[in-house]
Amino acid sequence: MNQEERIVSSKVAPEDHFDSDLRPKYLNQYIGQQSLKENLGIAIAAAKGRGEALDHLLFHGFPGLGKTTLAYVIANEMGANIRVTSGPVIERPGDLAAILTSLQEGDVLFIDEIHRLNHVVEEILYPAMEDYQLDLVIGQGPGARSVKMALPRFTLVGATTRTGLLTPPLRDRFGMALRLDFYTPEELVAIVKRSAGLLGVKLDGAGATEIGRRSRGTPRIANRLLKRLRDYAEVKGGGTITAQVADAALSMLGVDHMGLDDMDRRIVLAIIDKFQGGPIGVETLATMVCEEKTTLEDVYEPFLIQIGFLIRTPRGRMATQAAYEHFGRALPRQRPTAMDQESLLF
Ligand SMILES: Nc1ncnc2c1ncn2[C@@H]1O[C@H](COP(=O)(O)OP(=O)(O)OP(=O)(O)O)[C@@H](O)[C@H]1O
Ligand SMILES: [Mg+2]
Repeated sequence: MNQEERIVSSKVAPEDHFDSDLRPKYLNQYIGQQSLKENLGIAIAAAKGRGEALDHLLFHGFPGLGKTTLAYVIANEMGANIRVTSGPVIERPGDLAAILTSLQEGDVLFIDEIHRLNHVVEEILYPAMEDYQLDLVIGQGPGARSVKMALPRFTLVGATTRTGLLTPPLRDRFGMALRLDFYTPEELVAIVKRSAGLLGVKLDGAGATEIGRRSRGTPRIANRLLKRLRDYAEVKGGGTITAQVADAALSMLGVDHMGLDDMDRRIVLAIIDKFQGGPIGVETLATMVCEEKTTLEDVYEPFLIQIGFLIRTPRGRMATQAAYEHFGRALPRQRPTAMDQESLLF
């Protein structure tokens, strides 16, 4: 892969093909996220009506909820080209300048993991976003000169798992910031049914319900489980994913009735069994379960919090009564509540 391809690539890695085949291409194929879709639909229609590029957009949401998919949807809806890159691969201002100067009028530039841009690169982005202007200093010391160049009107689409990590000046330059929520089981059922249709997988209604319920509110997981269950159904279950097939295969994969997997169990049980339900600091917890702190925070905790198994208090993470019940553990008698924890601080 040459330098240019490394930084900007419209190609997808082979392992991403499954994902890209299933990506909805237009807004009306995109399931769920109702209010986000409405906002986006209006902005797109208005921009198209005026014959202008769409305003810069920021998507934030946990992994696998459909941010990258939305970037492609926007390009398709606008009838525009899309260039795809990500924060950590743009190392130098020159890398970003090369991308920006290759854009055409109306193009969509998608920067994934935009919170990981380094700040020298980020500063090139400010005038580019605001005034469609490239401001670059070439060389160093007395010989340095500044180059200014007009850029075509483009749309920057940024994606991040956490807006809190974005610098305020960057965040402020987006015309719209839209948040993706976890999907409901019904929406996930619609997603797996659509995916099964596209892949030619035989899936009945009850099988779809089972997958929808056990996908942690996340389309990517729903599609992954569908793929695993297809294998299982072909080898052991007569080819069709029924509720029985789904249940047997998911149990074999260690996915329980609520969609919790082995790591979720390790996290919650570490808090319950080793720390009397918490509070426990996130670093300690990460060490206990041998996982990166950021993975714990971005991938596992959001869902555990969403289903009410875990709470974040100023002094650390705590397991809730619902978590004790789910894992069949008896609640300790003397146990600080989240309220007590907060009041300790004030
Ligand atoms: N609303 C949706 N309707 C149907 N399928 C969806 C939807 N959202 C996402 N998907 C499916 O889920 C998969 C994951 O989505 P996507 O890659 O866009 O997530 P992401 O938010 O960019 O994740 P990450 O933060 O890990 O990059 C896609 O391949 C797509 O098929
Ligand atoms: Mg993505």
